[in-house]
Amino acid sequence: MSTREASLHDGIDGKVALVTGAGRGIGAAVTNALLAAGATVAAADLLIQPSTPRGAVPYLLDVRDAGEVDDVVAAVERDLGPIDILVNVAGVLLPGSVEETDLEQWQQSIAVNASGVFLVSRAAAARMMPRRRGAIVTVSSNAASTPRMGMAAYAASKAAASAFTRCLGLELAGHGIRCNVVSPGSTDTDMLRALHGSKSKTLAEAWKTTINGDLTTYRLGIPLGRVAAPHDIADAVLYLASDRARHVTMHDLVVDGGATLQA
Ligand SMILES: NC(=O)c1ccc[n+]([C@@H]2O[C@H](COP(=O)([O-])OP(=O)(O)OC[C@H]3O[C@@H](n4cnc5c(N)ncnc54)[C@H](O)[C@@H]3O)[C@@H](O)[C@H]2O)c1
Repeated sequence: MSTREASLHDGIDGKVALVTGAGRGIGAAVTNALLAAGATVAAADLLIQPSTPRGAVPYLLDVRDAGEVDDVVAAVERDLGPIDILVNVAGVLLPGSVEETDLEQWQQSIAVNASGVFLVSRAAAARMMPRRRGAIVTVSSNAASTPRMGMAAYAASKAAASAFTRCLGLELAGHGIRCNVVSPGSTDTDMLRALHGSKSKTLAEAWKTTINGDLTTYRLGIPLGRVAAPHDIADAVLYLASDRARHVTMHDLVVDGGATLQA
């Protein structure tokens, strides 16, 4: 047996990380986990929210804005040092059937969930390449690969984010940079609560339906019998950002309790 002592924090302690969508939910959990592992974290979000983790350095950032993305990435490197880890978490869910979805909602979904990942990853990668090190993790969704009722725009935007991140991994492998995807299923955050609220269900009813499944909408339920907590997703992100995943790139790690039968 190897005597090498490996910890989940290998390759994270002392590093600089940029997290988008860090103000709440999964982004805040990722930020807290990186801080606990010893990283210096730039917490970028559209809004500075009260739930922004203490100890992180907040930056206002709209990931849809190419100029702002370049300015914030430059500011993070100037203020905190070279970015070693980028985690793309910022996202929006604008639910609705295709018939109900207007062009603006479609474009919003693509702008944040797909173009935002492209812009921030491109800006960070350009700085990582000459240094020949770095790890990029994109939080996508299991809806990227499994059709969901009322989520066509969201699923399409997430499929684009996943495919982009895996192609980036191929382009950057020769530069020593790894790019991976984490695809969560239902996770207890404001985004999921707002989705259930829009269907005017109580939270208890919504959780029960999510866990048991609903064949009227072709959802199977969650075999592991629980809705994920944000830190369940953060754990997977931390692994992929760490040196323990040093031989893992272009991977899509599904963290959905088996909901899409591929975990
Ligand atoms: N919660 C779930 O069930 C679930 C499931 C699968 C995937 N996801 C994905 O995980 C990620 C985080 O989701 P969450 O549930 O924590 O959502 P959330 O709505 O609670 O948090 C999203 C964060 O992204 C920020 N954001 C939105 N638009 C932005 C923009 N243009 N620029 C910068 N920041 C912006 C918001 O201000 C917010 O702080 C999203 O990409 C989401 O699609 C969530």
